[in-house]
Amino acid sequence: MSSNPARSAPFGSILTDFMAVAQYRDGAWGPHDVRPVAPLPMHPAAHVLHYGSTCFEGFKAYRHDDGSVHVFRMDRHIARLRQSARSLVLPEPDAAQVEAMVLAVIDRNRDAVPEAPGALYLRPLLIGTMPNIGAAATPSNEAMLVVLASPVWDYFAGGAKALRIFVDDKNNRCAGHLGVVKTGGNYAAALGPTLAARKEFGVDQVLFCPGGEVQETGAANFLLFRDGRILTRSLDSTFLHGVTRDSLLHMAPDLGYQVEERVFTVAEMLEWVKDGEAALSGTAAVLSGVGTLIYQGREITCGAGGIGPHTQKLRAALVAIQTGKAPDTRGWLRKV
Ligand code: COI
Repeated sequence: MSSNPARSAPFGSILTDFMAVAQYRDGAWGPHDVRPVAPLPMHPAAHVLHYGSTCFEGFKAYRHDDGSVHVFRMDRHIARLRQSARSLVLPEPDAAQVEAMVLAVIDRNRDAVPEAPGALYLRPLLIGTMPNIGAAATPSNEAMLVVLASPVWDYFAGGAKALRIFVDDKNNRCAGHLGVVKTGGNYAAALGPTLAARKEFGVDQVLFCPGGEVQETGAANFLLFRDGRILTRSLDSTFLHGVTRDSLLHMAPDLGYQVEERVFTVAEMLEWVKDGEAALSGTAAVLSGVGTLIYQGREITCGAGGIGPHTQKLRAALVAIQTGKAPDTRGWLRKV
């Protein structure tokens, strides 16, 4: 058990001392600098404040037993940030620039990388800063890229407790074409339904299933396990293409699972959880077991109601790779 005081703080609420910042102006990204974390000067007319031009990423660096630090699938996260920037017509930074900023932040905060099961959560943030309150239909020609870092442990406050999930078959998490974009507005859109369901049913998250089709929760992808099978929604624009989801699906066949990626309904999900398992995946969530679904006022227990054995097995296998306890045969880790 680590004695790190950040361990008991809510996920992401403690930041390391240094961040990296770069600005886009006159058609080009300038060099980044590394500076103490502090408020950033921002024009009140900045595009992001009015028209929501913002996207971000979340990924982790892990400390291995020999003290070395390794970042997990950074290339995929940087590619996704650039894809989000293109979707939102924000100035797109080079992959090399984002990578250099992330590496600089890790290096400057190296002592703050916790030992497993903690990790250093890395948060690149891209915002449109053009000062123009009339620019609703004009992209921002100025931008800022910031990389923050935070020592983290469990995302869900319950830690090892199975989650309670409200199944919402009416609301969308966000606009259908934007689910794939990691933009702050999607999280803001999910907040109202999540807080309402939390107040009424004491849930951790809402599983958005508009039209009865299972998509994802406010902050994580959704997977089902049963009889050596894994079922999760096939990739489309309606939900975020999680790197953790992708990692688990790549590992699954070696662990004896057959993967089914397809559209499925709430009715089929309820069949699966009778004797199967449900779980949420994401950088923050890792793979978190779902114990209870609340649907149409009914409480439905998933499997035995705890964190099921398949969820535990897949999570342990993933974390073993990330923390250097199992070989990284796919080249997902980069020593930094
Ligand atoms: C992540 O898993 O990295 C996310 O972005 C989720 C966020 C709500 C913490």
